[in-house]
Amino acid sequence: MSLIATQILQDARRAGALLARGRLVAFPTETVYGLGGDATGDRAVAAIYTAKGRPRFNPLIVHLADIDDVHRFAVLGGAALGLARAFWPGPLTLVLPLRKGAGLSPLVTAGLNTVAVRIPDLPLARDLLRAAGRPIAAPSANVSGRVSPTTAQHVLDGLGGRIDAVLDGGPCGVGLESTIVGFDPLPTLLRPGGLAVETIARHLGAPLALPGADANITAPGQLASHYAPLGTVRLNAAKADPGETMLGFGPGPADLNLSPTADLDEAAANLFRHLRTLDDMGARHIAVAPIPDTGLGAAINDRLRRAAAPRS
Ligand code: TXA
Ligand code: MG
Repeated sequence: MSLIATQILQDARRAGALLARGRLVAFPTETVYGLGGDATGDRAVAAIYTAKGRPRFNPLIVHLADIDDVHRFAVLGGAALGLARAFWPGPLTLVLPLRKGAGLSPLVTAGLNTVAVRIPDLPLARDLLRAAGRPIAAPSANVSGRVSPTTAQHVLDGLGGRIDAVLDGGPCGVGLESTIVGFDPLPTLLRPGGLAVETIARHLGAPLALPGADANITAPGQLASHYAPLGTVRLNAAKADPGETMLGFGPGPADLNLSPTADLDEAAANLFRHLRTLDDMGARHIAVAPIPDTGLGAAINDRLRRAAAPRS
């Protein structure tokens, strides 16, 4: 692949103009940085898969600025509309029936008859989407299988020279990807993420269903090894063994700590940055303290289990 100079932009309008011309622009959201491209353009969407080295059977999330825009591309009603009204803009992605012929590139949905949609909560992201004036497909802006970026510098570390620009909005507040909910037809958790499942269940008045073993929906979970740091990862460690680097949670000895006060929101915001720092430290064996499975802890543990999975 030929290397291009990746511009660092502060201006959503300039970044939006690049997207409108079919270029690839990474941008901040409240969850992680996304790698954006025009969701109506086959070439732009194909370029996203190429830049990330992402398998083409793994569909992308379409980002929009307003609920009214969502109705143009997807069927949004019933329980999905209730969730949209309650939690958008926010760290929630809904997998909805696709409106065929509405102009989305079939590469975005990997040929499925559903489309994943999200309205991000960061005003700069919505400014960019409005400036682009079109739906923007955006996976996390990392090389496939590696840790998602939560700063513009993380994006450049992985994709610099492969994308046209990155819009710098500072560090992401949530730090974990969005929670993904599908309708099967019951609301079903496809990926735990930045919106706690308990919060969604409280709104629905019922717990979310879990995908059946026969689910043909491809959520990020299928690729067992993901979010991988360079070192091996051992979970639920009371303490580091000799040769291990300790990633702590709460009080107690640690080389790096996700949250010394055991605050799960703080731990979520630190998780991907700390996994990168462990790489920089040359950590070959990482021991991770136990983390409660409530609130954002469920999503943190999901990402850590993938980081600990055997690598292919
Ligand atoms: O917070 C986020 O969700 C970030 C920011 C940039 O918005 N994006 C993100 O994208 O995490 P990505 O590509 O890393 O993860 C999106 C996941 C994919 O792994 C895919 O499995 C799932 O969404 N997905 C997309 N379309 C789907 C569909 N039609 N049915 C089921 N799952 C789908
Ligand atoms: Mg990703």
